[in-house]
Amino acid sequence: MYSRITGTGSYLPDKILTNQDLERMVDTSDEWIRTRTGITQRHIAAKDQVASDLALYASQNAMKAAGVTSKDIDLIIVATTTPDMVFPSTACILQNKLGVENCPAFDVQAVCSGFVYALATADMFVSSGKCRNALVVGTEIYSKLLDWNDRSTCVLFGDGAGAVVLSQSENPGILSTHLHASGDYCNVLSVPGSISGGKVEGNPYVNMEGSVVFKFAVKVLEEVVQEAIAKNNLQATDIDWLIPHQANIRIIQSTAKKLGIPMDKVVVAVDKHGNTSAASIPLALDIAVRDGRIQSDQLVLLEGVGGGFTWGAVLLRW
Ligand code: ACO
Repeated sequence: MYSRITGTGSYLPDKILTNQDLERMVDTSDEWIRTRTGITQRHIAAKDQVASDLALYASQNAMKAAGVTSKDIDLIIVATTTPDMVFPSTACILQNKLGVENCPAFDVQAVCSGFVYALATADMFVSSGKCRNALVVGTEIYSKLLDWNDRSTCVLFGDGAGAVVLSQSENPGILSTHLHASGDYCNVLSVPGSISGGKVEGNPYVNMEGSVVFKFAVKVLEEVVQEAIAKNNLQATDIDWLIPHQANIRIIQSTAKKLGIPMDKVVVAVDKHGNTSAASIPLALDIAVRDGRIQSDQLVLLEGVGGGFTWGAVLLRW
């Protein structure tokens, strides 16, 4: 028994914040942001939107594409760094909004690698026969975690959600999953503050050593892709589509170059929505599925890295 993605969906909030808008907010320029990151715009959730709202739209789109209804879903995993509340989990809130009855539902917190972690976890449930149709979602409202006076971080992120339905199949599907973490880097990329008794304690915003993140990301993303292709006796050139976490075009280009994968085999969406953390991989996947780039039987490699550090890859046959 294998697991196979049978439907993808995504959602971006209506409000668009361009680099030109940011020029009016902080001391930055469109040219700096585009050349350093590749980002031209990002989407920002409305004040009353929470992560489960974005997840709901993305999930409905994925379920429609898979041809399943809420009755068919028997596992929900939500990857998010920006849950609606401390508890209940965003997965339970989403379960209620979708009208899915009695199934396991839980959140995964692995920051920008969250979707890869969630998909790898769902694969174990589905390929072992414990579940038939898992809904796997990445959803984020990073605009709430940003200091909008800090130009070094506020230009990088955006809000959005992406989802897939992972179903039982006699044919692969997911070929292998590869997860890693190193807590030695806890302080390099973090939101260190907290809320206690209604008061913010410490720094509640994204805190990042950008150049350390950059170097680490390129190193481990190359390693984890090599690990995935070696495990399946493949070469990097066998990959039809590389779907990287959409943090920064320079990280994406450097990783592809080290692997010898040409950029026309890499799905890039960071320009349109910035870094949406756990949502970025399913967002990019959905775009490439819907515009017809990803075709049946092709080899697709998803990879990501995030705070923790965490990193991982999922290799699958479409
Ligand atoms: N606009 C204009 N100038 C800026 C901005 C901005 N938005 N932000 C920083 N600068 C300035 C700095 O103050 C600095 O000025 P100085 O030389 O006068 O001190 C100058 O630009 C260069 O700063 P650096 O931090 O050295 O710039 P760098 O070329 O390293 O680019 C960046 C910064 C884009 C953050 C880069 O380090 C990077 O891409 N890191 C990866 C971070 C990332 O993608 N994080 C996402 C989360 S992690 C993940 O998803 C994997």
